[in-house]
Amino acid sequence: MSNHSSGPTPLASMRSLGLKGSIAMPGDKSISHRALMFGAMATGETVISGLLEGEDVLATGRAMTQLGAKVEKRGLYWHVEGVGVGGFTEPSEPLDFGNAGTGVRLAMGLVGTYNFVSRYVGDASLSSRPMNRVLDPLRTIGVEVLEHQDGKLPIALRGPSKPVPITYHTPVASAQVKSCIMLAGLIIPGVTTVIEDVFTRDHTEKMLAGFGADVDVTTAPNGQRTIKVGGLPNLLGQEVQVPGDPSSAGFPMVAALIVSGSDITIENVLMNPTRTGLLITLQEMGGDIEVLNERVSGGEDIADIRVRSSELKGVTVPPERAASMIDEYPVLAVAAAFAEGATHMPGIEELRVKESDRLSAVADGLRANNVECIEGEDFLTVEGGAGKVTGGGHVKTHMDHRIAMCFLIMGLASQKDVTVDDGNIIATSFPTFTPEMTRLGAEFSRPNQ
Ligand code: S3P
Repeated sequence: MSNHSSGPTPLASMRSLGLKGSIAMPGDKSISHRALMFGAMATGETVISGLLEGEDVLATGRAMTQLGAKVEKRGLYWHVEGVGVGGFTEPSEPLDFGNAGTGVRLAMGLVGTYNFVSRYVGDASLSSRPMNRVLDPLRTIGVEVLEHQDGKLPIALRGPSKPVPITYHTPVASAQVKSCIMLAGLIIPGVTTVIEDVFTRDHTEKMLAGFGADVDVTTAPNGQRTIKVGGLPNLLGQEVQVPGDPSSAGFPMVAALIVSGSDITIENVLMNPTRTGLLITLQEMGGDIEVLNERVSGGEDIADIRVRSSELKGVTVPPERAASMIDEYPVLAVAAAFAEGATHMPGIEELRVKESDRLSAVADGLRANNVECIEGEDFLTVEGGAGKVTGGGHVKTHMDHRIAMCFLIMGLASQKDVTVDDGNIIATSFPTFTPEMTRLGAEFSRPNQ
């Protein structure tokens, strides 16, 4: 299914003729992780269609199996036989989440509150990411952190015999932190409350309610959201249809905008308003992007998106939009490199703690391809080349799937080929990226090592 395990392998992309045709998106990564976790925790069977079969999500599936759930693919569907709330069994081996921040941070909430020892590990990228943002609130619940490496993986947790419900005001705009606490709250008697100042993706709120949890959300006039979760609910297995991933859709979207003569349709894309920041920004830049066939599926808005090549103009992205496009800044930076004028992206300090330090990885990649940019502590400004980018760069991906994809997209429209040091890492989130983009007309090659 993927060759990620075969180790880093360079991949290059070259100037391509207009991209044409339709492309279906793989399932949304955030919803896929949650579908497996909530299915594992519910009573009875959850049947999932459209699950993202990327490395990140498969790692979550394996972890759920280690905790006592049954997870298997039969035909087109993934079936999860859950254990019921409070029913996980102590894992005998560490839970290995590979590259996945969402997997491990949500799992520490889901499992860490249990009165047994659970150990969490990941790859080199995940092991360098900050976990105190979830360990701090878990400690106030009474969870013991038995092992950690300066707030990083490997981490071992033991839940208290009597966990207490907390009210936690998240200091970072993070759906992972919010979700971790909400999931911990499920096995705590009483009501657990999370307050977030910034509206981050709300898949946990929506899906947990769909599985039968007691979730109450209120929004203050200033936008602050208070989420209350009732403990020890009776969750029941559900049918989940996973919509296409808008973060993955960002890659063909930007590709079609910058490769002249392109006209593509991206099918079945999640349009949840907490995820549409990139689409709105590209439209503001002058991108010819039409939202078609808007419909509702599995409780989420979805649509098809038609994109034609466009002359883009630089913009300033409002910082309050950051949460709704946090994973899309790297590919926006590529669009910005082809725009006329500068694109300014303030308020993006969270990029520094993603699969890589994305602010510096993007800035380095832009410079390697002769694109001028200014990298601030919490902002990036890209000087656009009005349709012309030299390219020719060799880009370090730092084990980051989105850095790999965004610079391969750049190479489809730059004058010289762009090479990334690892194409295999793409399997983390978009295992069909290369064949699907090739079908649209994109040209890739495996450089000699
Ligand atoms: C995610 C939340 C975001 C995002 C990640 C997926 C989720 O992370 O970057 O890819 O599914 O909850 P943060 O919560 O760290 O912002």
